[in-house]
Amino acid sequence: MRKLTTALLTLGMAAVPTCAQDLPDGPGKETVMTVCTACHGLEDIVSSKHTKAEWKKVVDKMISFGAEAKDEEVEAIITYLAKNFGKADAAANLKPSAPGAK
Ligand code: HEC
Repeated sequence: MRKLTTALLTLGMAAVPTCAQDLPDGPGKETVMTVCTACHGLEDIVSSKHTKAEWKKVVDKMISFGAEAKDEEVEAIITYLAKNFGKADAAANLKPSAPGAK
């Protein structure tokens, strides 16, 4: 029994990921992993939830920091992030509510 426990523990430790690669599969994943890990890990990204417009702003900001991606890569990244780290009901909320309107 002790041997089995040891074996299970060893297996468990081997299965611990060394690097957080918890991006869901899908088109654009490779691009995100290449372009968006140059300066920081994926934690910043996977812990965020943004609409497509917000992701575009984030990615634009990263490009101003120096992220390098071609136009079509930028598009792929934004589409991927909006799909996998988007806000569920944001698309249904497109009508501006103009909270500051007089
Ligand atoms: C040139 C370096 C660089 C690259 C490449 C880069 N980032 Fe960043 N990123 C930063 C820096 C610096 C910060 C922290 C400063 C801040 O939050 O304004 C940051 C913070 C973030 C944050 C958390 C803060 C926020 O503004 O929401 C997110 C999300 C993010 N990056 C996403 C991305 C994505 C997506 C990509 C790929 C398109 C990317 N980053 C590529 C430099 C970079």
